[in-house]
Amino acid sequence: MGNRLTEKRIMITGAAQGIGLAMAEAFLREDASVFLIDRDGPLLAEAVAGLAAGKAKIGHMAADITDAKGIEAAVAKAAAEIGRLNALVNNAGINVFSEPLATTDEEWQRCFDVNLKGAWNCCKAVLPELIVQGGGVILNIASTHAFTIIPHTFPYPLAKHALLGMTKSLGLEYAPKNVRVNALAPGYVATQKVLDYWNGFPDPEAAKAETMKLHPGGRIASPEEIAMAAVFMISDECTFMNATCLTVDGGLSVQQHPA
Ligand SMILES: NC(=O)c1ccc[n+]([C@@H]2O[C@H](COP(=O)([O-])OP(=O)(O)OC[C@H]3O[C@@H](n4cnc5c(N)ncnc54)[C@H](O)[C@@H]3O)[C@@H](O)[C@H]2O)c1
Repeated sequence: MGNRLTEKRIMITGAAQGIGLAMAEAFLREDASVFLIDRDGPLLAEAVAGLAAGKAKIGHMAADITDAKGIEAAVAKAAAEIGRLNALVNNAGINVFSEPLATTDEEWQRCFDVNLKGAWNCCKAVLPELIVQGGGVILNIASTHAFTIIPHTFPYPLAKHALLGMTKSLGLEYAPKNVRVNALAPGYVATQKVLDYWNGFPDPEAAKAETMKLHPGGRIASPEEIAMAAVFMISDECTFMNATCLTVDGGLSVQQHPA
């Protein structure tokens, strides 16, 4: 048990599994209180039951980040259960992968509703809490798709590029209020989302091997490796880091192509 996040009361979206759940575990180990949100209520309840709290507190609520009223209710529930929030992690996100001309309006809408508007709904609900307390932290889980493009993944990278834009915009707007807004950009991380992606290929094992080969170290990240970067970014160890993006991808995005 550490104390790098003592006094931090952090709402995490999409926290029932994957990177969100790994962050909840890592934050609790550093003495934060956490409030977990996910649209999958049963999975969320199961995840919360498996968390070890120590002296920190845990709250949760099944909510969809595309429902602004539901998110407002979640922020109020968080205040009642763990105290007023002073940090938010916008982690919930979905893959919507297509080719530009094959993308339906429904796919476009769903992609932007969750990956961009959902994050904004949460910022809008939490920012007043941070400002009234004299400051706080927002961390947006972006992706290397926020600054590079993989063909046939349209329009997901567009939404992640925009999430980076929102990070910079809010970081500048609220710096005078002592609110830091940053993004964390993982490359491939071993979560259900990536398994689903591989399973979408005729030969999932071959797709997995191709992904590994893309990485300079021959492997992808674990959710815990992303969570530990998030601990640093939420903590007071980086109080002058604002309106920027930290890439945690094992070198994937700087490589022109594998040797
Ligand atoms: N896994 C990767 O390789 C990878 C890489 C780069 C970025 N990311 C980003 O990291 C974040 C987490 O990814 P993951 O791989 O852990 O995903 P995941 O699919 O394993 O988990 C995401 C969780 O978010 C929840 N969720 C989805 N839409 C929601 C909504 N509208 N409201 C509330 N909850 C919702 C899901 O129920 C799920 O429990 C996403 O923003 C993703 O884009 C993931």
